[in-house]
Amino acid sequence: MSQSVALAPSILSADFCRLGEDIAAVSSAQWLHVDVMDGRFVPNLTIGVPVVESIRKTTGMFLDVHLMIEKPVDMIAAFAKAGADLLTVHLEADMPHGIRGALDVITAHGVKKGVALRPITKAEAILPYLPELDVVLVMTVEPGFGGQKFMESQLDTIRAVRRYIDGCNPACRLEVDGGIAPDTIAAAFEAGADTFVAGSAVFGKADRAAALDTLRGACHGK
Ligand code: DX5
Ligand code: ZN
Repeated sequence: MSQSVALAPSILSADFCRLGEDIAAVSSAQWLHVDVMDGRFVPNLTIGVPVVESIRKTTGMFLDVHLMIEKPVDMIAAFAKAGADLLTVHLEADMPHGIRGALDVITAHGVKKGVALRPITKAEAILPYLPELDVVLVMTVEPGFGGQKFMESQLDTIRAVRRYIDGCNPACRLEVDGGIAPDTIAAAFEAGADTFVAGSAVFGKADRAAALDTLRGACHGK
């Protein structure tokens, strides 16, 4: 693995009344993770297109938009126009033709492409899509809420996805999402992840820049 480590603070754990300030406080991170939920694919409802448009105006950070929505193909164009740099769709959200269609629309808009795997989905399910992807996102909690416990059982999935990436698309990033904290990030890193979403471990701390440094240190310290 030759990728540098990237941190992606998740604004799901930010204070939405002070979103601009919270985003500014994590600007030392490379990516900003935006969790879009529709109340159907997951039992929670969060951020939509107008919020992504506003975020785009306030930051130059790489906007990593995680779509936890059914039939994502219908919403790709709107999120691309709103300023997403990366759109990640869930493999389980519209299998298999809808996912193929969603990836094609993402490509047509010149946006980077990711596919996410729920914990129940086997690593090999990514193989048909992997050659064209910029990111594989391995969920390390059940998607839907911040602040959940990291699922150690997903380390095997991370290892398997790392082998597949190294074998057929080494430039693809391996992102992990859920329960990433100073005591879990090293295990995910050692298993092969290079990009780490962290919500509560960053926005749950008063000093967000220090929280990001702690995460980087916990990763590189190993
Ligand atoms: C959960 C979201 C995550 C969430 C992570 O479904 O996809 O991005 O914000 O939150 P933490 O880091 O608190 O587990
Ligand atoms: Zn997420």
